[in-house]
Amino acid sequence: MAIKVVTKDCTQLSDAELAEMADICADGPSLYEVGQLSKQVEAWVLVSLAREGNGLKGFSFCTLERIGGTPSVLIGLASVKRTSKRSSVLRAILADQFKRAVMAFPDEDVLMGTRFATASGFEAFRTLDDIIPRPDHKATGEERAWGRRLAKRFSISSSSYDDKPLSPLVTVRSRWHLITNHSRPTASIQRSSGCSRTSAPSEAIRSLPSAGRWPRISPRSSDLQVGVMQFADVVANRRMVRAFESRPVPTDVLDRILDLARHVPAAGNTQGLDLVVLEGEQTAKYWDATLPSERRVNFPWPRLLDAPVLIIPVSWPAAYVERYSESDKQRTGLGEGEDAWTVPYWYVDTAFSAMVAMLAAVDEGLGALFFGQFEHESAVKTAFNIPEDRYPVGTIALGYALGEQRPSASSQRPRRAFDEVVHRGSW
Ligand SMILES: Cc1cc2nc3c(=O)[nH]c(=O)nc-3n(C[C@H](O)[C@H](O)[C@H](O)COP(=O)(O)O)c2cc1C
Repeated sequence: MAIKVVTKDCTQLSDAELAEMADICADGPSLYEVGQLSKQVEAWVLVSLAREGNGLKGFSFCTLERIGGTPSVLIGLASVKRTSKRSSVLRAILADQFKRAVMAFPDEDVLMGTRFATASGFEAFRTLDDIIPRPDHKATGEERAWGRRLAKRFSISSSSYDDKPLSPLVTVRSRWHLITNHSRPTASIQRSSGCSRTSAPSEAIRSLPSAGRWPRISPRSSDLQVGVMQFADVVANRRMVRAFESRPVPTDVLDRILDLARHVPAAGNTQGLDLVVLEGEQTAKYWDATLPSERRVNFPWPRLLDAPVLIIPVSWPAAYVERYSESDKQRTGLGEGEDAWTVPYWYVDTAFSAMVAMLAAVDEGLGALFFGQFEHESAVKTAFNIPEDRYPVGTIALGYALGEQRPSASSQRPRRAFDEVVHRGSW
């Protein structure tokens, strides 16, 4: 009997299906119960169910998302019934996920990422080539750099991750890049997987997978300079994201982003910048203040409201006026008041911070949207106790981007040409 795979939104999983999935796990060795599987529904977007006739033979969670702008298939918790057909079932599931990715991201290179409990998980990818790690392949510096990025995306601390013996990268034919983090069955790796199982299932791919973009080689550089390329990659691939998964951003990831966002230049080193950060349920208060329920019905980006983090960069004009009345700045005359400023540097500096936050988010594998508060500014100030003399410049929504994004009309406007923008020597 043929194996039939259906991939659908995780939220459409019925209780009966979750029970079937738990039954498969109960066969061992990956003993996930219904409760644990329900949690995966929050962590992933899609689920593939493989059936032979009516019987469920295997399943796998996955997401299609952009990581640092790169279209990616991330393959999550999976389990396959231990029968003679288990390899075929796993390959059928993955084939369906590959197909989805091609449909979601036509004409783009797609990167695949996953993480195995044991090396036998590679079986599912046997038809692919250039798999890394693989025997007799010495990882290049570039590959190891991507392994580290992958580990970071897995929220594996650098002390638990060793990029040398098993470099974590797989490229698949010319179209695909597959990055895997083959976790050796050590206690530290298993802890970081978030799964409480102790024995290592051969076909179960059992922890949150991740991937990063294969770095582009700069056309201007014959040397491989990973740091430089990563930065260019982050900038080039940043696009505003307006649909998010609801899964939370790990605290350490968010803290890194916030820390970078305060490392920005500031006029007179005034640093009249504050960041109001809303996480999880705190974001509901923001939306209540800015998007009344009657407007939500027709709101074109409903999954913007799923963003697990909102950052409100707030500027402080009075701090700049005061700073520029100090002796070393007095001659500028800018200490006389806000009206003396031809360019309000308080907004410039706060915008620098917002930009760094967005780029840092992309670097962490997240997506972000900067958007205006418009007529809701005073409601936002009231809702979050922002002092009267401080001014939010907008809001940054931040989180894991969904694969499918509805672009705004503005974002369809073509980018102005290089020569039109750049005026060398004079206008
Ligand atoms: C200052 C500023 C305000 C913006 N306000 C909004 C907004 O209110 N809503 C929105 O959907 N996008 C907003 N955007 C995003 C722009 O539409 C977007 O940056 C532009 O279309 C280019 O697309 P890209 O950033 O994806 O390249 C804003 C961007 C900036 C820089």
